[in-house]
Amino acid sequence: MSRRVQAVIIGSGPAGLILSQLLLHAGIEAVILERRSQDHVLGRIRAGVLEQGMVEMLERAQCAQRLHAEGLVHGGINLAFGGERHRIDLATLTDGKHVTVYGQTEVTRDLMEARAHDGGESVYEAADVTPHDFDGDHPYVTYRKGGAEHRLDCDIIAGCDGFHGIARQSVPEAAITTYERIYPFGWLGVMADVRPVNDEIIYANHPKGFALCSMRSKTRSRYYVQVPVEEKLEDWPDQRFWDELRSRLDPQAAESMIIGPSIEKSIAPLRSFVAEPLRFGRLVLAGDAAHIVAPTGAKGLNLAASDIYYLHEALVAYFKDGSDAALAAYSGRALARVWKAMRFSWWMTALMHRFPDTGAFGQKIQEAELAYLVSSTAASTSLAENYVGLPF
Ligand code: FAD
Ligand code: DHB
Repeated sequence: MSRRVQAVIIGSGPAGLILSQLLLHAGIEAVILERRSQDHVLGRIRAGVLEQGMVEMLERAQCAQRLHAEGLVHGGINLAFGGERHRIDLATLTDGKHVTVYGQTEVTRDLMEARAHDGGESVYEAADVTPHDFDGDHPYVTYRKGGAEHRLDCDIIAGCDGFHGIARQSVPEAAITTYERIYPFGWLGVMADVRPVNDEIIYANHPKGFALCSMRSKTRSRYYVQVPVEEKLEDWPDQRFWDELRSRLDPQAAESMIIGPSIEKSIAPLRSFVAEPLRFGRLVLAGDAAHIVAPTGAKGLNLAASDIYYLHEALVAYFKDGSDAALAAYSGRALARVWKAMRFSWWMTALMHRFPDTGAFGQKIQEAELAYLVSSTAASTSLAENYVGLPF
């Protein structure tokens, strides 16, 4: 079966879903092709901290109602090291800016529901999605669904299909440059229905390794500890996780921590990765399809939103005014912001984790930098303005 639409969006993660809603509201016809089932996409536990820019994108997509009702607004974060905890007052340091804690799963659910309500078309369990001829004027995408072959002719293909997606892989090697840093550790994450240990996020630097206390609601906690990348989940029964987490926190947090059975447990490797450029003729990349940040600064999901901010402006200009100029500028505009978030995430990762090769000297340098950070308004302002998100 073959038909024509204006845009094909590959991937129904946050990037693809936000783009699809903005195009729909601008009167541009787009179809989402997603390899997985809707339930599978909704079951993936990932990020949880939204910058104000991301919240504004969800408002533009007309699906921020539940976020405003249920999201937790945080005006500060906490750094724990040397047995003490220090608060970084994000709001005071950034003229009143804040972040909102609201799970990526909920963002995705809200976007999917809005799309269904507005009559947008998404094809789930689309197999062998393949972009074709995007270097010419007649690109198309093929896929299989329900035993049949399908073809969508279009003007633009948006690759919003994450790090392992097909869009970036379809680009000839000579046309793309990649930059990568792989870290020698991962994050073991646990979700549990227990009251969070603190009402704000705690990032902990400890000689045994990094730990992070976050949350999804007032009754659901999300905690992480740094582990060697080759670690196996089966070696981490709940009790071992709780003992390890507590041992890396300040005494007050360790003592007041409420523990309970995990409802999800996973290990995520840490990586910094950027592909350049983001446009190849009629194919554009956005979100994790183009870049991965180390998660320490909570930037991954937020970068997907900023890419879509630039991309949807470019696509509206392209479809409404026939102008290619904004599309030509997309890659440069988006990447300028991506690299700043890349740098911040890399810096925060380097500051907070144990690296196998830096030893006791590395630990001392980190503690000195942390002490400087919490005592200098200049240094904590720099952290705060990056954490709440640089302007789009
Ligand atoms: P994705 O959410 O990856 O969506 C891409 C979609 O494309 C997926 O639904 C996928 O199934 C689909 N797809 C892939 N290949 C194909 C194909 N061939 N055909 C059709 N569809 C395809 N960020 C943070 O800020 N904090 C965190 O704590 C954090 N934790 C994370 C934990 C994990 C395990 C992972 C993987 C990521 C984490 N991130 C975190 C990053 C954050 O979740 C991502 O940056 C965000 O999901 C990016 O959104 P996206 O829409 O670009 O990509
Ligand atoms: C969470 C994830 C992060 O990467 C981070 O820096 C802060 C919080 C979270 O999952 O809640």
